[in-house]
Amino acid sequence: MFDVIIRQASLRFGSHCVFKDLNLTLKGGQWTCLLGGSGVGKTSLLRLIAGLPAGKTTGEVVCQDGFSVHHRIAWMAQQDLLLPWFSVLENITLGQRLRRNLTDVFTRRPLLSAEVQERAMSILAKVGLSEKAQVLPQHLSGGQRQRVALARTLMENRPLVLMDKRY
Ligand SMILES: Nc1ncnc2c1ncn2[C@@H]1O[C@H](COP(=O)(O)OP(=O)(O)O)[C@@H](O)[C@H]1O
Ligand SMILES: [Mg+2]
Repeated sequence: MFDVIIRQASLRFGSHCVFKDLNLTLKGGQWTCLLGGSGVGKTSLLRLIAGLPAGKTTGEVVCQDGFSVHHRIAWMAQQDLLLPWFSVLENITLGQRLRRNLTDVFTRRPLLSAEVQERAMSILAKVGLSEKAQVLPQHLSGGQRQRVALARTLMENRPLVLMDKRY
């Protein structure tokens, strides 16, 4: 567990200053919720932490243990970004399948190791969607889609999870 420290961060789009002189410590081992009206800069701050800034930024993001924050982040976007032609199970294991680059020779669909499949099913159970593993996203409610997106994020097994929410 490690704290994430944001020092003297600022963000501007042209002449519009979204925030400046922002100092914030996100404590390790707990959830931190950023609340604020639409347009105050919640998504922008998450992007800054993830190293994906839009606009002109200053400041730094460091981990208190001295290691870089890069490669330690799992990201959950505002939209669920599920791929409509993949089942729930295929969607939540997308990262693993892309990185392993294994393809079934007959169907050309990406393959899964038994270990990854087992972990995926265990995370699906935690978000209450075991029954939906083979279902396409079009058959899910908005809330269920969000839970699939959460399962996909948790599959990455990273120490820092950034979750962007619309409301
Ligand atoms: N790509 C962009 N170009 C210009 N302005 C932007 C861009 N992205 C965000 N902004 C502005 O930055 C501010 C913060 O946006 P955002 O971080 O998306 O807010 P929130 O997530 O809190 O709703 C808003 O005023 C928005 O208009
Ligand atoms: Mg936002």
